[in-house]
Amino acid sequence: MAVIPVELAGRSYEVRVGSELLADLAAQCGPLLRKKRVPIVTDNNVERHWRETVDGSLAAAGFEPRWMILESGEGAKSWTVLERLMDWLLAEEVERGDHVLALGGGVIGDLTGFAAAILKRGCGFIQLPTTLLAQVDSSVGGKTAINTSAGKNLVGAFHQPSLVLADLDALTTLPAREMGAGYAEVIKYGILGDRAFFDWCEANGGAVLAGDRAAQEYAVTESVKAKARIVAEDERETTGARALLNLGHTFGHALEAQTGFSDRLLHGEAVALGMVLAARYSARRGYISEADAQRVAMAIGSAGLPSEVATLGLNCNGQALAAHMLHDKKMDAGTLPFVLLHGIGEAFLDKQVVLADVAEFLDRELERR
Ligand code: NAD
Ligand code: GLY
Repeated sequence: MAVIPVELAGRSYEVRVGSELLADLAAQCGPLLRKKRVPIVTDNNVERHWRETVDGSLAAAGFEPRWMILESGEGAKSWTVLERLMDWLLAEEVERGDHVLALGGGVIGDLTGFAAAILKRGCGFIQLPTTLLAQVDSSVGGKTAINTSAGKNLVGAFHQPSLVLADLDALTTLPAREMGAGYAEVIKYGILGDRAFFDWCEANGGAVLAGDRAAQEYAVTESVKAKARIVAEDERETTGARALLNLGHTFGHALEAQTGFSDRLLHGEAVALGMVLAARYSARRGYISEADAQRVAMAIGSAGLPSEVATLGLNCNGQALAAHMLHDKKMDAGTLPFVLLHGIGEAFLDKQVVLADVAEFLDRELERR
């Protein structure tokens, strides 16, 4: 098992990466579980695969698991479901010193984390991420949120978990497409800040996706280390360091919006394609070579992720895609900072990007074969 500390003044916590962490849940949580009744939030898919394991571990240690099982999907990050969850937590008499367990992907983690942030002005929570995306990204760093009709993740809070248990066993039941989407966030750490890790991903991405346990442990551990470093440096995304984690997200967000935030393009797939576009746009601006941009596209394409916008069959032009970017929550005083590349492993924030130029670039990408 690897243990990665997230160092934050007064709120430091561990991310543990390894096998059988859910089977050993009671011991892993230790004194964080201070009452017999343990509230657990999950979704119906995760419950089907992992409830027995969690129940077994908690019951054997004398705990009484209490389950809130939500319908899977992004729809759970809503006011309606949040209200239901808050009412349930209150009925369960969860107190500030208690911990709520979030067992699931980024949807369950974001929703439960936000509920924990506002329950009685803040109670504890433990992240038990069961998707690759949640293990390498959303469970670490304390961003919690729900969606509203105005957009995704617009209502939320920074609220750090007390512990994160990334059990690699959970990945054995994850659908292949969800693994791929999570892998996009793994390779992102290489592209944005660690060329050696990008090289490793090029060589070992196939093994990670095929279920090789050692490769998965290395990929998750290195990703969490990178995220922990960035979060410790810029917890609230004020200095620009954490903003680099948005590599691929501005282009990706436009593609997600154009495809209606649907299963047509999963978030991780949109980020993958967004990173290809960020690399190609960096080449267009003369920041990186065409060869490096092509290398990024190849690494993403060979992981089975989308690497050409044209293949999405979008019925729109570059201007329409750029228009979605205007509603990006990263808009700052009328400008939209773009994460671009000075090289593989060298992301930076460019605040001088002109959206009309991006639209023209996207017109060409939409026709590229
Ligand atoms: P998700 O939570 O919807 O999970 C994807 C699917 O996999 C769901 O159908 C789920 O039921 C299923 N699933 C989860 N674990 C499983 C398992 N072990 N076995 C079988 N099925 C399983 O999606 P996600 O990709 O994990 O997370 C996406 C969410 O994360 C989005 O809402 C996004 O906004 C958020 N996010 C948050 C952050 C952050 O920093 N807070 C970062 C990135 C993404
Ligand atoms: N997923 C981006 C962040 O945590 O900042």
